Amino acid sequence: MIGNLNHVAIVVPDLAKATARYRDVLGAQVSQPENLPEHGVTTVFIELPNTKIELLHPFGDNSPIGRFLEKNPDGGMHHLCYEVDDIYDAKNALIAEGARVLGDGEPKIGAHGKPVLFLHPKDFSGTLIELEER
Ligand code: CO
Repeated sequence: MIGNLNHVAIVVPDLAKATARYRDVLGAQVSQPENLPEHGVTTVFIELPNTKIELLHPFGDNSPIGRFLEKNPDGGMHHLCYEVDDIYDAKNALIAEGARVLGDGEPKIGAHGKPVLFLHPKDFSGTLIELEER
């Protein structure tokens, strides 16, 4: 069921500064910032040869990562995103095994225009997991 590691997401307190470090110091290809109001975040994607890094910064007043940044003022690793063939097959299999899907449990359209789901960190060794349909 599980496919490639699509990205590792890192919450950053200063999006421009973090983007510049990857672009100017590490020589990475970086995307333009994109606001995702439905998710309460602004994202920048760093392209690596084998995967991506998603830089996350709060967008709007009720950002789900606002509290994360309060607890971790320097930022920190936020989630891993794995690709799956079919988001509903993955969701149903995980629920059948007792895993918890966050939010209302319905896939939302993520940063790449594809359906995504988030899984409870307590069911994945303390790591928030995003699933993205391939
Ligand atoms: Co993500």
